[in-house]
Amino acid sequence: MAKKPAKKKPNPLKSAEDLDLMEASAELAHLAREIAKHDRAYHEKDAPTVSDAQYDALRRRNNAIEAKFPELIGADSPSRQVGAAAATGFAKVRHGKPMLSLDNAFDDQDVADFLARVRKVLDLAEATPIELVAEAKIDGLSANLRYEDGELVVVATRGDGSEGEDITANMRTLDDVPKKLKGKAPKLIEIRGEVYMERKAFLALNKRQEAAGEKMFANPRNSAAGSLRQLDVTITASRPLQFFAYAWGESEGWEPDTHWHFLQQLKAWGFKVNPLARKCRNLAEALEFYHVVGAKRADLPYDIDGVVYKIDRVDWQKDLGFVSRAPRWATAHKFPAEQAQTELEDIIIQVGRTGTLTPVAVLKPVTVGGVVVTRATLHNADEIERLGVRIGDTVNIQRAGDVIPQVLGFVPELRPKNARLFHFPKHCPCPLQTDVVREEGAVAFRCSGGLACPYQQVQRLHHFVSRLAFDIEGLGGTHIENFHADGLLDTPGDIFRLEKKRKELIARESWGEQSVDKLIAAIDARRKIALERFIYGLGIKMIGEATAKNLAREYGSADAWLDDMLQATKERAKQPSDVKKKERAAEEVGSAYGRLANVTDIGITTADAVVNFFAEKHNVAVVRDVLKQIEVQDAQRRTTNSGGKLDGKTVVFTGTLETLSRDEAKAQAESLGAKVAGSVSKKTDYVIVGADAGSKAKKAEELGVAMLSEAEWLKLAKE
Ligand code: IVH
Repeated sequence: MAKKPAKKKPNPLKSAEDLDLMEASAELAHLAREIAKHDRAYHEKDAPTVSDAQYDALRRRNNAIEAKFPELIGADSPSRQVGAAAATGFAKVRHGKPMLSLDNAFDDQDVADFLARVRKVLDLAEATPIELVAEAKIDGLSANLRYEDGELVVVATRGDGSEGEDITANMRTLDDVPKKLKGKAPKLIEIRGEVYMERKAFLALNKRQEAAGEKMFANPRNSAAGSLRQLDVTITASRPLQFFAYAWGESEGWEPDTHWHFLQQLKAWGFKVNPLARKCRNLAEALEFYHVVGAKRADLPYDIDGVVYKIDRVDWQKDLGFVSRAPRWATAHKFPAEQAQTELEDIIIQVGRTGTLTPVAVLKPVTVGGVVVTRATLHNADEIERLGVRIGDTVNIQRAGDVIPQVLGFVPELRPKNARLFHFPKHCPCPLQTDVVREEGAVAFRCSGGLACPYQQVQRLHHFVSRLAFDIEGLGGTHIENFHADGLLDTPGDIFRLEKKRKELIARESWGEQSVDKLIAAIDARRKIALERFIYGLGIKMIGEATAKNLAREYGSADAWLDDMLQATKERAKQPSDVKKKERAAEEVGSAYGRLANVTDIGITTADAVVNFFAEKHNVAVVRDVLKQIEVQDAQRRTTNSGGKLDGKTVVFTGTLETLSRDEAKAQAESLGAKVAGSVSKKTDYVIVGADAGSKAKKAEELGVAMLSEAEWLKLAKE
């Protein structure tokens, strides 16, 4: 279609839905120019002319229009410019009402207890019936769709329950998401539901991903999440995502009397509601529904992981309210993990990122919960002995959520005569064939080849480009292995030098100019990276995603972090390995090691893992090399509220708190100006002792540190 020159003035106030083709085309052209102008100002001149929020708004508007008019997406569309939007990511959105999670029931008794609790809180007589709605629990990811005067205005992921990410443009590409409510619409309503992908679609997508050398997904839920969280909405639009609605949040001008009526209203507004929902008059009917749905589970086109029971009467729901993060008026009755029987064909050894040798069961392919399983973990040598399995045995395996399948045991009656015992190898299967070592007290055997082991190098590279780290598209599948084998990649820094090998790459089998340029663009897009991703990507033992975030928040910048880690390494080198002395060193808040050991989630074991990493000269060189190629963005420092009533105080939480999660407790303490430490020392001002507290409470007692119960803490905090 010939595009006429844009004459009409773009009208950003009109919903994308209401634009006609001409208006859409004009506005897209205008947006492309604007976004390109800001990109240039930002990247080339390093002088942004608009705020991040304004920039994100332009992109969102662009994406929303493109979702409505996919035929207008040109080759130069901003949504096609790989990486341009990567640095900004998704905007944050606050939910009108928090998105709660559900308590779990694992057996019939738990469900009976749930109903008994409801009866007690509502003070209902035994004879008063409590009607429930039972619904299949979809294993996807939840989303909050906000409608104002019937128009879809914003969609957000669940996030931390209070605040999620803005996925409006992505969700608008789903057929199941009404852009406008049918019939009479309330002034405001938030509709919640589950985004999911059918198993068939997930398998097909994985096939395509594999062929293209892109990352594969572990299960349908992950593939739904990955497909939704795309900055380029055209990718989301190409993925078959679906949506079931099942709850509401904030509302104005409308409220149902029962949940059952709410489900009918959802359909009237144009939502898809899962047909596996039933109104139950009592516990027996609810449990019957659970068993009926459980029996159908494997035949459904999508994954479900249980049944949700909701008290039908909305006035009762309100009276029941919620405790901590879950409503008292609903509970999730989980299905047991799915199991299957198959043959153990072999046991192979996998070498991990840090040299751990993990025995892996090679299985005769079998379908477990809709996913074909060919491998399962056997954890370690002790586990093989405990299970008593032999190669050739028929084994029971289990798949629970996205956890790698596990071998539960073997069937003795089916053991063949020629079943073979497995002997753990004495040498690592890596080309160095190093001696296998077992550190004192450890269960795992390790390759002693360290940084020279090519298997470990490859695993580290895989980790470096993985989704939570540098997230480099196009280096998935077997590309890293192949590049590594051919000497193109050795250490993470080499990834950023691949562009210099463009010619060599293009000449490779099944690579062409286009795919190489796409890869180089994907790598370039990550030259600017968040500090927490950088730290996590280094693959330091014990530093997972959450701990990397805590480190980033503590140190703020890559330079500050690296300086302190090198300092801590120097300090530790001088100390004896005696645990008591180490604990004392950790209490030195003024020392770099002490500071590290006191970061949330980190104690001496993790601090030592970090220090051991930096004690290795090669690792320091790798880190410095990567830093030369990229720009690490500073993290928002952990802010303590100076002037708060606990300003300058150090508090430690220990044991299980009843009404607060650890994160909530920590945030509360920090908002009052306190520093939250991981271990108790003379410098600690308060220790808040929850249930089953252990050594920290004992230590506080020994040192005479003030100890508070959870209730006392809450009183202090709220005073
Ligand atoms: S109701 C306050 N209904 O399960 C009510 N949740 O484990 C909140 N889920 O976060 C949710 N199917 O993502 C509800 N029919 C259903 C559901 C469902 C799946 C998910 C949802 C929620 C999680 C809680």
